[in-house]
Amino acid sequence: MPGITQKFETSNRPDEWKIEQGMVAAELPVLDMTGPETKTLAPQVFGELTRDDEAIKAVGNRDELFTRERKGWVGFVEWENYPEKKAAAHKILTSQTFPPNPEFQLGPIPATNPVLPGTRWKMWHHEVGGELTQIPDDSWNLVLKEKHQDMLHLLQFPYNGEPPKRLVTDKVITPNNLHFVRNHGGIPIIDKEDYSFVLDGLVKNPQSFTLDDLMDESRFPRVEKLATIQCSGTRRIEQILKYPGQGDEVPQAPWAEGAIGTASWVGISLKKVIKACGGLVDGAEHLEFYGADTYFKDDEAMNYLVSVPWSKVKANEVLLAWEMNGEVLPRIHGYPLRVVVLGYIGARSVKWLYRIKAIKNPTRAPVQSKEYLYFPQQVGKHNLRMSDGIQIQEMPVSSAIMSPWTKQAVIHNGSIRCKGWAYSGGGRWPERVELSMDGGFNWYTVPLDNLSEKRKWCWRTWEYDLPCDVEGWVEIVVRCWDNSLNTQPSEVRTSWNWGLHVTSSCHRISVYSVNKSRPLTKARLDEFEQKGIPFGPITVPLAFPSQSWEEYEAFWAKHDPRDARE
Ligand code: MTE
Repeated sequence: MPGITQKFETSNRPDEWKIEQGMVAAELPVLDMTGPETKTLAPQVFGELTRDDEAIKAVGNRDELFTRERKGWVGFVEWENYPEKKAAAHKILTSQTFPPNPEFQLGPIPATNPVLPGTRWKMWHHEVGGELTQIPDDSWNLVLKEKHQDMLHLLQFPYNGEPPKRLVTDKVITPNNLHFVRNHGGIPIIDKEDYSFVLDGLVKNPQSFTLDDLMDESRFPRVEKLATIQCSGTRRIEQILKYPGQGDEVPQAPWAEGAIGTASWVGISLKKVIKACGGLVDGAEHLEFYGADTYFKDDEAMNYLVSVPWSKVKANEVLLAWEMNGEVLPRIHGYPLRVVVLGYIGARSVKWLYRIKAIKNPTRAPVQSKEYLYFPQQVGKHNLRMSDGIQIQEMPVSSAIMSPWTKQAVIHNGSIRCKGWAYSGGGRWPERVELSMDGGFNWYTVPLDNLSEKRKWCWRTWEYDLPCDVEGWVEIVVRCWDNSLNTQPSEVRTSWNWGLHVTSSCHRISVYSVNKSRPLTKARLDEFEQKGIPFGPITVPLAFPSQSWEEYEAFWAKHDPRDARE
């Protein structure tokens, strides 16, 4: 193929135009304007990885240090009772360097599935070794076994995945293999026969419970609840696309609208188990949940820990569940036992539960105190303090459009078929869903018959033929009003925060409208069909004119002249 081959002199970088336009922002030089002259600072360049083999060897035999904790608990290392184990893991992790996370939040998101591999997390598990060595491979095998083949694997390890848009609201109750998964570590593989958890701390009679104990209906009444679990990272991609945020400390899965799912959970109320332990003592106000997976944060190894207030438990809104949609809880969702906190963010619904501890204050564990925080917009990364963030508990009202997709061309007869979900946390529920096709100026109410059943703790899925007369690019927007008449902020910018949590602004998509109920458009589309030319993409230059010269001349015969006479 002929091409331009001449070399030419230039002092521009080959990607100069892209870098000027902010398309490779990770490589943009930083401007230092603190002095009289603006200086250009080169971005960090990561050098060779280093490794102090002697120091790592001195830590000791990793197979012995991080051995299997209990019979029948594959992949479980208990960190919280063993400061010496934590110190050993810390030494291993700080005696070497690891490659940086891919800067996907400034550069393009890879067009692969899995989207991000989680290289550092895999390396941390291998380096700490012992019982953790096999965990990344075991976990991925479980994903392939338990999840739907069409899942979008946003992060391969720790596994984070969501269903593609077309399957998010396909059913009001999300099938187990399509329910999103948000993991911070590997998946422990626990035998039911060897399973028990302990309830201790500020309770009168600390006790441990097997699954058979919990399933004994003469002791604990069984409950079944339909509940939506939503991760506070849902729809984060809209914030990422607007401005990059946190991405350096933990690999942040670029969640779209699928980090939400609804299931029927069977189990018992935690309140009854606390009662069986004689109740709380000494001013206990919170319950701390321990998950058996290993989580790494700031070069420290730990188990997954969060807490919820006693008031929430007392209201029977915290379940210990072993069944999901009539099936035994899948391993990836917490088998054999998980917590389900109704109406709170998913982060509090701890999987692979091995301990509950009654405590006085909310846990200081990092997942609670350093993450899942809602930061103010105008505090920058370099002076952000934990205390600046609101600990996220109840998700605000939100909604999303699952069909059509943004940038899609839609041929229609005067209305665009739209589908999606609406949800509100804290036991509030969607009362009204509204759609706009003009960016949020005029709103159409989705008829109540087009919404799924109204239930406390649950989302509502919806469908609507949105009237659309105009052609060209239209902006379709959805918003929901909950039963407390809360509604959504209008723009992503109003909810943007450094942690990229709680994208609750109105969901907006741009769609190219082709309205076939207009005679000219219809004629045109018929012509495409007759000529056997596929319609789209809409940017392709047209192969045939939309008006004949005769028609054009007829127009001027009537409308001449072009410029007005004096
Ligand atoms: N429990 C443990 N032990 N480890 C985890 O990483 N992730 C939490 C929560 N429970 C997590 C956990 C988060 S952030 C969410 S959103 C939910 O699990 C997701 O539940 P799912 O993976 O069953 O959908």
